[in-house]
Amino acid sequence: MKIGTKAIHAGVHPDESTGAIMTPIYQTSTYVQESVGNHKGYEYSRTQNPTRHALEKSIAALENGDHGACFGSGLAAIDCLIKMLNPGDEVISTNDLYGGSYRIFKTIFEKYGIVFHFVDMLNPNNVSQKINSKTKMIWIETPSNPMMNIIDIEEMVSIAKGKDIMVCVDNTFATPYLQNPLDLGADVIMHSVTKYLGGHSDVVMGALVTSNNDIAEEMYRIQNSSGAVTAPMDSFLVLRGIKTLHIRIQRHCENGEKIANFLKSNSNVDKVYWPGFESHTNHEVAKKQMRGFGGMISFTLKGNKIEDALEIVSRVKLFSLAESLGGVESLIGHPATMTHASIPKELREESGVVDSLIRLSVGIEDAEDLIEDLAQALSE
Ligand SMILES: Cc1ncc(COP(=O)(O)O)c(C=O)c1O
Repeated sequence: MKIGTKAIHAGVHPDESTGAIMTPIYQTSTYVQESVGNHKGYEYSRTQNPTRHALEKSIAALENGDHGACFGSGLAAIDCLIKMLNPGDEVISTNDLYGGSYRIFKTIFEKYGIVFHFVDMLNPNNVSQKINSKTKMIWIETPSNPMMNIIDIEEMVSIAKGKDIMVCVDNTFATPYLQNPLDLGADVIMHSVTKYLGGHSDVVMGALVTSNNDIAEEMYRIQNSSGAVTAPMDSFLVLRGIKTLHIRIQRHCENGEKIANFLKSNSNVDKVYWPGFESHTNHEVAKKQMRGFGGMISFTLKGNKIEDALEIVSRVKLFSLAESLGGVESLIGHPATMTHASIPKELREESGVVDSLIRLSVGIEDAEDLIEDLAQALSE
């Protein structure tokens, strides 16, 4: 099946007892057994739930993977993944990443003896140099949040080859519509489902997908043992959101391109970060591994003043000032004080998250209205 057909049909079947075309919300904690151990495949909803199960199959199919697991948030999905490691194991992570991912690595898992190295992965040598016998994971976010850095997934896979290193990709920004890291050799994909997969800013959820049976076994064991599962109602909402994933992302990409070009021509804007520009670092890699460039854009202001950035994010009328991204409505944010405030200033600035950086999650409204809004906000 092609991705649009998968978005609508993968993982879901008409309800066997009623024929309901939409997967019912199985709002139940437990399942009656006819006799001890004699049940219909479901015992307790932390372990299995039919609505969640349909969603897990749908997301796995979208990513061309065999096994999917859904969690209470994207960070809960990351939590599951890092719990597969042991004290002393080392992780090499991209240095430009979602602030919450950085926070869970540094403030939760470091104290359990897991060592994290944050490197600029635009230069693959930085990764090779950090690899040793304790390296067990390479953590890639591409496009990265918020600098839109494009990391060559195949290159990272080739560096890890034969070394017992799990290559994990946070595919939140690209979505399976634009990029399928498992097809490029990655071992695990992580999603903040909260974003484009849900698509309607009404759910917080995470997911992992893999085709590796050993990793899958660990994933389900930790999902059940730690218990950070997602709810049936939320699973239903995301199943519904996914049905329009392909249409939404097409429009996000179209609007993204128009707005990126508008920003580039605005006299108050300094740099515009959008992977669709030929001048964007690793644009050729983006063309190779992605099917479009998405609706996430970051830009800086001439003079690089925090006051100017804060003024602009408060002047917009159609864009909403909010954390998060990937919904149908356009959002604007100031990473240094919002999503990336948990990263120390020095490290943040080293990766490009300077004081005037503004991040846009371009929605699927009419691009002309969005441009008009940005134009008035940027005018002096
Ligand atoms: C790229 C990326 N990864 C992970 C997360 C964490 O996901 P959640 O907020 O669903 O826990 C986010 C949230 O903003 C994100 O942008």
